[in-house]
Amino acid sequence: MAARAGGAAGERRILCVGLVCLDIISVVETFPAEDSDTRCVSQRWQRGGNASNSCTVLALLGAPCAFMGSLVPGPAADFIAADFQRRGVDTAHIAWQPRGDVPCACCLVNASSGSRTIVLHDTNLPDVTARDFERVDLSRYKWIHFEARNAAEQEAMLERVERHNRAAAPGQRVRISVELEKPRQELLPLMGRGQVVRGGAWPRGRGLQLMGGARGAGGRGPGSRGAGVGATLICAWAEKGADAVGPDGELVHSDAFPPETLVDTLGAGDTFNAAVIFALAEGRTLQDALTFGCRIAGRKCGIQGFDGIV
Ligand code: FRU
Repeated sequence: MAARAGGAAGERRILCVGLVCLDIISVVETFPAEDSDTRCVSQRWQRGGNASNSCTVLALLGAPCAFMGSLVPGPAADFIAADFQRRGVDTAHIAWQPRGDVPCACCLVNASSGSRTIVLHDTNLPDVTARDFERVDLSRYKWIHFEARNAAEQEAMLERVERHNRAAAPGQRVRISVELEKPRQELLPLMGRGQVVRGGAWPRGRGLQLMGGARGAGGRGPGSRGAGVGATLICAWAEKGADAVGPDGELVHSDAFPPETLVDTLGAGDTFNAAVIFALAEGRTLQDALTFGCRIAGRKCGIQGFDGIV
């Protein structure tokens, strides 16, 4: 499919910071028993990782976007870089590491239930640092989305965006979202930083998405801290839809839009995040954004991969 995410020259973009990995996906009819030897229906390589998948979806929705994360040169990175390019995702901020392994996940997608089972190896490649992030020209971005990973470094990155916002004219501020998928204690301080925060898997194993604080982006100003004060908190609950609390405490819900047949839920949460960010960045209401997120995520669950979500 032709890249659509280039955008007009000078148009401010959406940047997603987080993981990119290689997903080696086997689609199976039924989930294999341990220590069995079976055939799968199909197999593919796919560029994965939450922030990377969200870029794919943003690009498909037509939003100019960029990815920032770590890679190390080699065949896996060549595949990944070519795929970013195919989608029109800007990779200028990839932090190329001198050593380590490209994160790689073996994924089983059960075509009869849509379930995805992931075994990820991403232990030895350093994440992007606040120092790498210093090189990002913030004036080029209208929205920066962080997949919570290396909390201390990401806090420093968020601080830099907040400083930029305090000095910037209202129309030049950068909106911030944070995804807290894994309920890891050390990631919690990041919750206070996003203007919109999403989680979802927390209570049920699939991820809290906190989308970005309103601080410095037209919200309640530098004093507000913590999701819930001047921020939008979003929780996605898979087949139960999604709930959100707006900056003024407004509660919003959207039902899920399940496809006729669930075939592949790999990256459904990342799809939801991207669609919600896309809609909010366009100035749509929280209710509209949540409904749009559920609709696009639902569509994703009805197809293999991401082509066909729009
Ligand atoms: C889906 C995903 C996959 C990747 C795994 C990493 O949300 O990003 O693409 O293998 O999660 O945790």
